[in-house]
Amino acid sequence: MDLAFSGKTAIVTGASSGIGRVTALKLAQSGAAVVVFARRRALLDELVSQISAAGGKALAVAGDASVTKDIDSLMERALSWEDGGRKIDIAVVNAGRGLAGGILNSDESQWREVYEINVLGAAHLLRAAAQYMNVRKGGDIVAIGSVVGRNVSPFSGFYGSSKFAVAGIIEGLRREVCSNGVRVSLVMPGIVVSGFQDVAGYTVENFGKSVAQFGKLLDPKDIAEGICWLLSLPPHVNVNEIMIRPTGQTYP
Ligand SMILES: NC(=O)c1ccc[n+]([C@@H]2O[C@H](COP(=O)([O-])OP(=O)(O)OC[C@H]3O[C@@H](n4cnc5c(N)ncnc54)[C@H](OP(=O)(O)O)[C@@H]3O)[C@@H](O)[C@H]2O)c1
Repeated sequence: MDLAFSGKTAIVTGASSGIGRVTALKLAQSGAAVVVFARRRALLDELVSQISAAGGKALAVAGDASVTKDIDSLMERALSWEDGGRKIDIAVVNAGRGLAGGILNSDESQWREVYEINVLGAAHLLRAAAQYMNVRKGGDIVAIGSVVGRNVSPFSGFYGSSKFAVAGIIEGLRREVCSNGVRVSLVMPGIVVSGFQDVAGYTVENFGKSVAQFGKLLDPKDIAEGICWLLSLPPHVNVNEIMIRPTGQTYP
């Protein structure tokens, strides 16, 4: 077993599906103890069983990434996981959701939820993790943005705006904590086939046609490998941003 993260503890939000699930698995395979967070408890329990069966360590904490008390409880559960507690070395702030459509035609009744999860909930966890790591003078924070958080896309303009906000928060945070040895990175995926498309409301009509010419799309594993790569660099090297697209994705 490759033990690049042996002795480290990682929090991964949005670990019941897609990018978060595979990232938690890969970190655990590389020796990290992982605290996995999402709303769907049964899926987290399955993941913990899978990691434990392979000889790894994992703890499931069910909660809502848009609810501050659930995020605070995630931090507390991670820090008191075992006798004497654990430290938190890595926080992967990944939980999020998409929303099909632009500013004119996306479902406005879902706007608040998109911002509560993708921006406000993420910012609360980013702050909590960074405050803790600042005191310890070290740690890694990775947030999942999006290519549409850099390039406005007409088929997800409102969702994209939430990821522009994440990019701003991440760079602001990096400037506040980097002198304390805390690394902060933004990973911006292109199109990854996951639970994301169903939740966002993408269909063959509004999405399938636009991506048909892009060829093979990404798998969550492609993003998880990028995350593990940047976490495995020497402590003085901080890759601040990576954008990972399917090779054939011209835009966004
Ligand atoms: N797939 C793409 O093409 C793509 C592209 C760029 C960026 N991203 C970003 O990548 C991240 C992961 O997405 P994915 O593709 O892996 O999608 P996914 O398969 O739908 O996974 C989303 C994860 O987020 C969790 N989540 C959503 N809302 C939550 C909430 N309120 N509280 C707690 N957990 C919540 C879900 O868990 P529960 O439902 O169990 O709570 C699930 O584990 C998101 O931030 C997304 O915006 C995705």
